[in-house]
Amino acid sequence: STHKLLLLPGDGIGTEIMQEVKKVLAWFNARGTAQFETEEDLVGGAAYDAHGAAISDAAMDLAQASDAVIFGAVGGPKWDGVPYDVRPEAGLLRLRKDLQLFANLRPAICYPALAGASSLKRDVIEGLDILIVRELTGGVYFGEPKEVTDLGNGQKRAVDTQVYETYEIDRIARVAFDLARTRRGKVTSMEKRNVMKSGVLWNEVVTQAHADYADVELEHMLADAGGMQLVRWPKQFDVIVTDNLFGDMLSDVAAMLTGSLGMLPSASLGAPDPATGKRKAMYEPVHGSAPDIAGQGKANPIAMIASFAMALRYSCELITEADLLEKAIAATLDKGLRTADIAEAGDATISTTQMGDAIIAELNAL
Ligand code: NAI
Ligand code: MG
Repeated sequence: STHKLLLLPGDGIGTEIMQEVKKVLAWFNARGTAQFETEEDLVGGAAYDAHGAAISDAAMDLAQASDAVIFGAVGGPKWDGVPYDVRPEAGLLRLRKDLQLFANLRPAICYPALAGASSLKRDVIEGLDILIVRELTGGVYFGEPKEVTDLGNGQKRAVDTQVYETYEIDRIARVAFDLARTRRGKVTSMEKRNVMKSGVLWNEVVTQAHADYADVELEHMLADAGGMQLVRWPKQFDVIVTDNLFGDMLSDVAAMLTGSLGMLPSASLGAPDPATGKRKAMYEPVHGSAPDIAGQGKANPIAMIASFAMALRYSCELITEADLLEKAIAATLDKGLRTADIAEAGDATISTTQMGDAIIAELNAL
């Protein structure tokens, strides 16, 4: 079958790293085991320059009609002064909101070739492969009231509100259980039920949802203890499911277990379509548009290419192809090939396009 993808390169290094995904796409199309039909459009500052909006309605229609959106990165100093509601990030936010992408997946994988470069002991992270599932559209970042009031006595009062409803917890829990089934079959749910009502409900709803997943192991952990365990012995985890705030912090911590921003992919998933069972989805590197290195051919395309591998796995059900692409990335690193961001002192470095070409060479060799 043919998979419909929307490519949104965006700004800065977004366009450079998307070129490397296009090479991989062309490779798979030529190989013939999977066919991709791609559309491409503007997002972020590039869309603002062309249309005065960070994403056009036409691009949103393409996103709605696609099996997956492959997103580069947006932003840059050029657009620092543009009005708030059309700033580059507004394109990303509209995609998340209109596609209702409530589940953010951030894998933390330690490639053996880079294990020595981590600040942690090799045995703590070598072979690490965990997945953090963060709730993305609820919780304290969105709850009302959200305000700062002037108390008039030289004091102010700031309020953020953590709100979760049953359905929001239930659907993210099910994403985590479904994913665990395709992995090592374990979910760790993290909240703070000892001090937060939303944590009590979280714990309760995750436990209820688990009744439909007898084959998956469920463990509950307080989020602060979870943070400690994540650094102490991360290999104890398989899938971690947690709320928006804790997930924001824990996924950044997990990311740094394994190294550079240029290596970190992510996925955001929506609810399954009742008719087809397919989820809306967007795949993007964790990093931004890196204006400091944009246009210099220095960007590491691996986070972007690994994000595309996640699209193969989760939106296209092309598991063999996803495995193959991830193996090609690992093999490239095993050969000692390094972009500047992952090089250690004395290493020779290669460019964005050379890294893309090296991954294609490994695909040919595998
Ligand atoms: P950034 O992630 O763009 O860059 C942080 C540092 O990491 C820079 O030194 C950069 O050169 C390096 N870096 C990032 N990705 C790399 C890669 N693939 N290869 C090699 N080095 C890489 O974050 P920063 O500098 O805070 O933000 C720059 C712009 O990106 C801003 O306009 C920001 O708003 C935007 N941004 C966009 C995001 C998105 O599109 N999802 C996410 C984060 C920031
Ligand atoms: Mg963060």
